[in-house]
Amino acid sequence: MHTIINKKQITLSDPMLDKNLLEFIRENLDLTGTKNGCGIGMCGSCMVLVDDKPVQACRKTVRHIVGKKLLTIEGMALADGNLHPLQQAFVDAGAIQCGFCTPGMVLAAHALLLKNNQPSRDQIRKAIHNNLCRCTGYQQIVDAIEQAAHYYRSQRNTSMHTHKIQHTVADSTSQ
Ligand code: FES
Ligand code: FES
Repeated sequence: MHTIINKKQITLSDPMLDKNLLEFIRENLDLTGTKNGCGIGMCGSCMVLVDDKPVQACRKTVRHIVGKKLLTIEGMALADGNLHPLQQAFVDAGAIQCGFCTPGMVLAAHALLLKNNQPSRDQIRKAIHNNLCRCTGYQQIVDAIEQAAHYYRSQRNTSMHTHKIQHTVADSTSQ
């Protein structure tokens, strides 16, 4: 049995499958960016993405990620090691104070922006409604996500442009 964790394939053994997913991520994988705020599905600090959808790791077992793709905050950085533009937007907007909620908040926002790169402020608030922040008052967090949406739109435009060029080249070589 396999899973893809932050783009790397990992083999899972049978005895692991019933382990709590949050404990597995923190203890077995040593990916301690995923936080344990409440352990009972009330705070969102343990939020990770499974096949691009937000999941509270404290409420799942390892079985939930078999054959799927898990993304934790450690997998968000760009290939060159720099912060992802969404993470940078949190820094720039002052959306991080103690930082305990930030990994889960960033991943919830990433899931939203992957499917909607032009969200309204209401849609942003709805997407992060399961993520509690005790410090910021949410205003700066919503600002950060709104700012980062520009990056997701530019990525989409770039990939559509590349796709168009590939089609044009394919058409001209087939003539
Ligand atoms: S630790 Fe999972 S929701 Fe709080
Ligand atoms: S920055 Fe402290 S809980 Fe959100």
